[in-house]
Amino acid sequence: MRTALIAGNWKMNGSLALVERFAQAFVETRMPAGVEVALMVPSPYLDAARQAFGGTLVATGAQTLHSESGGAFTGEVSGSMLAEFGARYVLVGHSERRTLFHEDDAAVLARVKAALAVDLVPILCVGESLTEREANRTEAIVLGQVAAVFDVLEPSERERMLIAYEPVWAIGTGKTASPEQAQAVHAAIRARLKEYDAALAAGTRLLYGGSMKAANAAELLAQPDIDGGLVGGASLQIDDFLAICQSAG
Ligand code: G3P
Repeated sequence: MRTALIAGNWKMNGSLALVERFAQAFVETRMPAGVEVALMVPSPYLDAARQAFGGTLVATGAQTLHSESGGAFTGEVSGSMLAEFGARYVLVGHSERRTLFHEDDAAVLARVKAALAVDLVPILCVGESLTEREANRTEAIVLGQVAAVFDVLEPSERERMLIAYEPVWAIGTGKTASPEQAQAVHAAIRARLKEYDAALAAGTRLLYGGSMKAANAAELLAQPDIDGGLVGGASLQIDDFLAICQSAG
């Protein structure tokens, strides 16, 4: 049985005040049994989030990391620094990193390895563009992004990974993939994982991201191969995010 995970990705948003408001809300709200919650806050807020969420079951995470453990990389943050401030998860290969910061599959793989090296839990983000979907290349693109990392990892490393399917055309657009569209891609990812190992396929948590909202979360999360959500805009709205977490129960 895979534990549901609802992860909020604040992107370059938030504040110390919002961290405190979320912490208060999570203290006052009982999460459904068997639902894990995480917030990927901007790195400057990690320590405040660790302290504020200390009395809750909310884990913290980061939105990226540098592939090196240290050195002359002005402005960058290493995995060990994130781990030192209590991060449990780290997004790797988010489409905004791939497009805006030119992270190709090799760069994504290096970041996954760097995260694993310091015992962070990587959430590998994969997804196709609208052009690629309209050209019927969705599975080729998504499974290629999965294979670019999983083909290289050791079996013991693969078991520590999560995957988030985020159709690029659904991110921030309000155009959520239908439950059927999302389930089809999740099922294809799980079938691809089965080529490595049946237990890996059965145990790997696959999150959906792309305009998941309180209104559509339950139907998406009811799909057999959707094990949680990676939530952007709605994760900045406390009531919406709590409603999505409740939908996962
Ligand atoms: O990482 C999650 C994010 O890309 C989804 O954003 O605003 O469509 O929920 P949003």
